[in-house]
Amino acid sequence: MFDFKFDWCKEMECGVQIIDAQHKILFRIGRDMEQLIVNGCHNATTKELLDIVCELREYTSYHFYTEEDLMAKYNYPQTDAHKVSHARFKAKIVSIDLPMLGKHPEQVLPHIKDDLQDFLFNHVLTEDQELGRYIKTCAKD
Ligand SMILES: [Fe+2]
Repeated sequence: MFDFKFDWCKEMECGVQIIDAQHKILFRIGRDMEQLIVNGCHNATTKELLDIVCELREYTSYHFYTEEDLMAKYNYPQTDAHKVSHARFKAKIVSIDLPMLGKHPEQVLPHIKDDLQDFLFNHVLTEDQELGRYIKTCAKD
């Protein structure tokens, strides 16, 4: 699999400041997860594990709200498809089995991290770039 270390790079930017700033926070959450995995999840406390999943859920919801609000404001033509991608990822993180995470963090946390990695890598580099381009065009007018 592609070795993706949640390192932010210029290519990830979509050019809309608020979106880029929020994406960087999602990357930071990914790095925090990687750190827990590298340190051996069995050493993590249940609170640390729950905190990171809660942060991911809350921040993702907040971030999607921000993007969807911008889509409405600028009448973005791809809104429906973009919202479907958001809903799909949201459903994934809502369905994280917390008791299982507490019992077997070394199995569950890498899956959560991979899901976040897949989402960020695929979505940020495609759909969010497209949204960024559209907003920048509208903002110029
Ligand atoms: Fe998005």
